[in-house]
Amino acid sequence: MIIQKKHGKVVAGDAAATEKFKMVAKTMVSLEDVLADELRALGAENITVLNRAVEFEGDMRLLYRANYCCRTALAILKPFAQFDAADNDELYDKVYRIAWEKILNVDGTFMIDSTTSGEVFTHSYYAALKTKDAIVDRFRRNFGKRPNIDTENPDYKLNLHIRDTHVTLLLNASGDSLHKRGYRQGVGIAPINEVLAAGLLKLAGWDPTHNSQLATLNFYDPMCGSGTMLIEAAMAANNIPAQYYRTGGFGFMRWKEFNLGEWKSVKAEEDRKIGAFDFEGEIWGNDIDEQVIMQCERNLQHTKLHHDVMLHIGDFADQEPPEGKTLIVTNPPYGERIKVEDLNAMYEKLGDTFKQKYGKDCDVWLITSDFEAMKHIGLHPSKKIPVQNGSLDCRFLHFELYDGSKKAAKNADHSLD
Ligand SMILES: C[S@@+](CC[C@H](N)C(=O)[O-])C[C@H]1O[C@@H](n2cnc3c(N)ncnc32)[C@H](O)[C@@H]1O
Repeated sequence: MIIQKKHGKVVAGDAAATEKFKMVAKTMVSLEDVLADELRALGAENITVLNRAVEFEGDMRLLYRANYCCRTALAILKPFAQFDAADNDELYDKVYRIAWEKILNVDGTFMIDSTTSGEVFTHSYYAALKTKDAIVDRFRRNFGKRPNIDTENPDYKLNLHIRDTHVTLLLNASGDSLHKRGYRQGVGIAPINEVLAAGLLKLAGWDPTHNSQLATLNFYDPMCGSGTMLIEAAMAANNIPAQYYRTGGFGFMRWKEFNLGEWKSVKAEEDRKIGAFDFEGEIWGNDIDEQVIMQCERNLQHTKLHHDVMLHIGDFADQEPPEGKTLIVTNPPYGERIKVEDLNAMYEKLGDTFKQKYGKDCDVWLITSDFEAMKHIGLHPSKKIPVQNGSLDCRFLHFELYDGSKKAAKNADHSLD
């Protein structure tokens, strides 16, 4: 179902499975370009990078594929109506005129997520309420009954987006956020978001299946916690689709236009690629907390990736990295959720370990929100990428090591902004 603005009117029409339409993939700060690359590789066309989102075109098969495969998308949305509204009354009128009965099932449930900006629609909640009223009033008038609201597990998740007076209505094709991969059996107290972990790996260049020169690259997380980086790294190395372990399905499965046969064929196509690439590197994780390593092992067992990942228990400072070229990406404590007695001393020890144990074969990246403690690492980051971990403003820092990195300590750049 597509509803377009034509000569100022809202009109509706049926979309064949091969018909192309616009979609929007939502993501996080600084992950827009890697998401655009992912979508391009899946066959998306007319890609435009936006702020924490990527707009693209494709058909229903691409909508299924993007949901199943994109590691760095939080949600895939399908815009279905666009119009201008001068105020809440006009918003109500124009929403009322949409043929909702072609989109929503009267016996189904829905919810509306809204974001508004500009001076006209200052209360996003009120705009969502007006939209909801228009939808249920139309159903009541035409059918004598209405779909109910369910904010927990709705059949249809609608997004209302208003910028100044420009209104866009979108259907959320993902349902539950795509960071919910389904592989977590246990977590530590500060697990990193799965989409962020996958994005950091891509920013750090972990792309073994698209670059044969990386086939023997190792991966190491010296503070792996419950193993999010390790699992995302192993899934990418084995070409396992991002949602392979997802339980509970996707939002699009409840849509009227959902085609089970097409979905199964897209899924089978992607599943056939699993393990097709011969990854020969080693993936290692280490953590000082035995309990958290046990949770990590449980997560790995659940994904059946436990043979691909080697775990160690101990202080990162005592642990050598794997031999040979190794990418190290880690998420040390920031002192927000995990209390470390002396965070400055811990970061100093981290810097010493980079210099003394890792050397030129290792490419090191770390994410932190603790800009003060970071100064104690004593090495000059060659890149500083702003990222967001939950509500925390973070930097993703790259350290290129070479033999004699200690000299670099003297010239360390302490400015992190
Ligand atoms: C922010 S958590 C990592 C979370 C992980 N990325 C995940 O998704 O579960 C930081 C981890 O560093 C570990 N840690 C703290 N000090 C350590 C040390 N000296 N050596 C090794 N691990 C340490 C903690 O036990 C904790 O699991």
